Amino acid sequence: MSKTYCSESVIEIKVNGDIRRVVVRPSETLLRVLREKLGLTGPKPGCENGDCGACTVLLDGLPVKSCLILAVEAAGRDVITVEGLKNTAIQQAFQEEGGFQCGYCTSGFLVNAYALLEKHPEAEETTAREWLESNLCRCTGYEGINRSIIKAKKIKSGN
Ligand code: FES
Ligand code: FES
Repeated sequence: MSKTYCSESVIEIKVNGDIRRVVVRPSETLLRVLREKLGLTGPKPGCENGDCGACTVLLDGLPVKSCLILAVEAAGRDVITVEGLKNTAIQQAFQEEGGFQCGYCTSGFLVNAYALLEKHPEAEETTAREWLESNLCRCTGYEGINRSIIKAKKIKSGN
C-alpha cells in the first residue's frame, strides 16, 4: 500500500519590502517560517494559539496573528514584521512615551498600533483600546502604549 507524503514547496513572500524565497512544509506557520527560516525573530511565539497577539504581523496591510496563518497562505503576499517599522512614528513614540514593555509583547503591540494609525489616523482613545484588545499583557496598565499612540498621531500630523 502506498503512502502519500506532503511535500515541501518553494514560495516567495515579500517581507519588509524584500522578496524572500523559502522552502516550507504545508503545516508550517508563518510565525515559524519568519523566525526560523527568515531570521526575523521580532514576531514572538507566545501562546501559538491565537490568544496573545505577540506574533502579530501585517499581511497585505492588515494585522494578523502569524501563529494562525500557514506560510503557504502568505505566498505572493506582502508581510511586514516589527523589523520593518524602523524609523516610523510609532517606534519613535514608543521610545519617547515608555510604550516598550517586555520583549515578548512589545513587538505585537507595535505592529498592531502601527496598523491602527495606518487605517484610522484619527483614532480616539476608545477606538485604540478596542483595537489593541487582541494583544495581551498581564503585567502593566497599558498606559505607556496609550500615550505612545497619542504621541504617534501628533508626530504623523506634524503637531
Ligand atoms: S503567539 Fe500568536 S497569538 Fe499568541
Ligand atoms: S507581557 Fe510583556 S510586559 Fe506584560
